[in-house]
Amino acid sequence: MGAGCGQRDNGLNDAQMTAELLGWYDRHARTMPWRTGPAEKAAGVRPDPYRVWLSEVMLQQTTVAAVRRYHERFTALWPTVADLAAAEDADVMAEWAGLGYYARARNLLKCARAVVADHGGVFPDTHAGLIALPGIGPYTAAAIAAIAFDRPETVVDGNVERVMSRLFDIETPLPAAKPELTALAARLTPEARPGDHAQAVMDLGATICTPKSPACGICPLREPCLARQNGTQAQRPVKTPKKPRPHRRGYAYVGRRTDGAWLMETRPESGMLGGMLGFPGSDWSETPDPAAPAPAEWRIAGEATHGFTHFTLTLTVLTARLGPVNPERGHFVAAEAFSPGALPALMRKVHDVASAQPEIERATAAE
Ligand code: ADE
Repeated sequence: MGAGCGQRDNGLNDAQMTAELLGWYDRHARTMPWRTGPAEKAAGVRPDPYRVWLSEVMLQQTTVAAVRRYHERFTALWPTVADLAAAEDADVMAEWAGLGYYARARNLLKCARAVVADHGGVFPDTHAGLIALPGIGPYTAAAIAAIAFDRPETVVDGNVERVMSRLFDIETPLPAAKPELTALAARLTPEARPGDHAQAVMDLGATICTPKSPACGICPLREPCLARQNGTQAQRPVKTPKKPRPHRRGYAYVGRRTDGAWLMETRPESGMLGGMLGFPGSDWSETPDPAAPAPAEWRIAGEATHGFTHFTLTLTVLTARLGPVNPERGHFVAAEAFSPGALPALMRKVHDVASAQPEIERATAAE
């Protein structure tokens, strides 16, 4: 633990801090489509493991605000894990469009099918059983075990790391501080209501112990919080500075045939945006190869820039009206079957740049 000169005693023991937090959660828990409400809780109804699993996979790298809508849509289309397991891959990928990190969607399907094939459609109720499933790592296994099955597992995400780093005023920078912060979170995890406890810490981090301007005045842990006592909240958690993201470039080709059909390409399963529908284009590198997917008079329409986790990408967007060509790459998607909403965010940006061009906007005389 940090050895600074400030206050090091929380004044409350672990059980007292946990009790404060659970009391706060009972009053202020956020309503979410995968949580049970107060009446269900009082009646002893546990959250549905399928809904919890779906939420946890969606919430990896994505905000609660964005996930809510997707979760509602997925559970309306596929109310049970068996329904999802029976879905067409392309339908699930299209519904996932916009959430990013598309390997998650492919693993989602693999996992749903494994739960049906190997577990009779019932999620395993232990960390060991869950982590054996495709796409479920240590974090997700702990979260499902705690939230759906009330197993005393410690769940550590970015919110939990921030809350622990402030509550105990940890000076070690992230990511080196992870084991220390995990041990502190484990210390606070109670035997009773571990799922509520995990979600209470997450909600506290998301609503009160926020990265900027935390609302310490209304925090249920304001008394024991060492960072508040030491006045270091704004400097916690300490982070090792990140290297700037590299910039890659590439080309994207948006072609429409005179009947309105779009030239599209399903991206390879492995790699960025794997398995998603997109516009054909070059590799993404410092020196991309601009080979076009079909012979036509390609014209530069503009640029589309998108930030991925490890690099920023700028695509030069080229457009063309296509004749009755046999493309070297990709396939045609009829105008009626084409939906920009089913494209990943980068490809939607490419579509928006291209759409300003007359040969793309009005590909058919009828339009
Ligand atoms: N982030 C990940 N899982 C969460 C949950 N169950 N509640 C709130 N935030 C979360």
